[in-house]
Amino acid sequence: MVVVGAGIVGAAVAWRAARAGLRVTVLDPSPGDGATRAAAGMLAPVSETWFGEQAAVRLGLAGRDAWPAFAAELAAETGADPGLRPTGTLLVAYDADDAAHLRRWLDLHASWSLESAALAPAEARRREPLLGPRLAGAAWVPGDDVADPRATHAALLAALRERRGAAVVPRAGVRLLRDARGAVVGVVDDAGETHRAGAVVLATGWRAAELVAGLPVAVPVRPVRGQTLRLDAGPDVAPSHVVRGTVQGRPVYVVPRGPGTGRGPGATPEHREVVVGATSEEGPDDRRATAGGVFALLRDARALLPGLDEAALVETTARARPATPDNLPLVGPTDVPGLHLAAGHHRNGVLLAPVTADAVVAGLEGDDPPAALAAADPRRFTPTPVRGA
Ligand code: GLY
Repeated sequence: MVVVGAGIVGAAVAWRAARAGLRVTVLDPSPGDGATRAAAGMLAPVSETWFGEQAAVRLGLAGRDAWPAFAAELAAETGADPGLRPTGTLLVAYDADDAAHLRRWLDLHASWSLESAALAPAEARRREPLLGPRLAGAAWVPGDDVADPRATHAALLAALRERRGAAVVPRAGVRLLRDARGAVVGVVDDAGETHRAGAVVLATGWRAAELVAGLPVAVPVRPVRGQTLRLDAGPDVAPSHVVRGTVQGRPVYVVPRGPGTGRGPGATPEHREVVVGATSEEGPDDRRATAGGVFALLRDARALLPGLDEAALVETTARARPATPDNLPLVGPTDVPGLHLAAGHHRNGVLLAPVTADAVVAGLEGDDPPAALAAADPRRFTPTPVRGA
């Protein structure tokens, strides 16, 4: 098989497929330099729940459940640490309106039997002493943890490079090869080389529609830009919990990695990388951070955690997320024989990479995907008259 795209989703699919005994070629000129590069790594199906999106929650919970075994197997195979940490997530509200919004959100969690609990601001501050003085509400989500997307991605690539029968080729896939029946039987890369395969998986994020032009497959994926910031924070100012907040209606999150992950000349073994995110901008993959985006993220993060003022700003990252019309990904076989999708994961590429990989491998082997993936069937957008064409 060929996987086109080696972000965290494509790399996870390729690794799982190789472990299942398939020969795998992965094509990507710069693996991991798309949305994976910006991702903070929150495994947060409850914290990212939204009204009306129950199928997304079910999928997210399945994604979260798949992470521990995935991380353990990857660590066992590579000796690398994917950075999965059972942190839980603190939800905080800055003013009275934010607190009212948080209460509505907790009611939604309760009505869908999702685990979260209101906390008095004083209790939130006891758990996370670096929270600022102005908090109007708080809650705790015990199961929403965090992984390190860059570490996970590096481990996946290392595993693929070590595996017999797997190859990572630093080229872009530019054209699908089809046989006389119309089945996809390979990919031509940007150096003109042909990679023949029994199946092709498109995992090219927001670009996933490019290779299917002219095929009876609808791939309605669009770019939604997100900017994230990386700080190097010492022990006096780095929070130890994931903090997600709403500040005067604006969402912001602050994601600390473990001690020893800081960067730069002053970083000690106690320093942590802290990721602050994220903007959400309908628009193309312009990789320059904007002054307004950086300003807004820092303004809102420091409103919740004032000590972050002392942290060093070591990176700004802007990348496009791959969004779909219903905020669910496109995972599994299409109506074109030999063509599979693993795309459109929007805000949840890291969360859903393991369960996506399992579903795609099931589809390649002719098995049913995990039940929660039914809502991600890519054929849902293909107009009925052309289905089976
Ligand atoms: N899942 C967080 C984000 O996309 O910003």
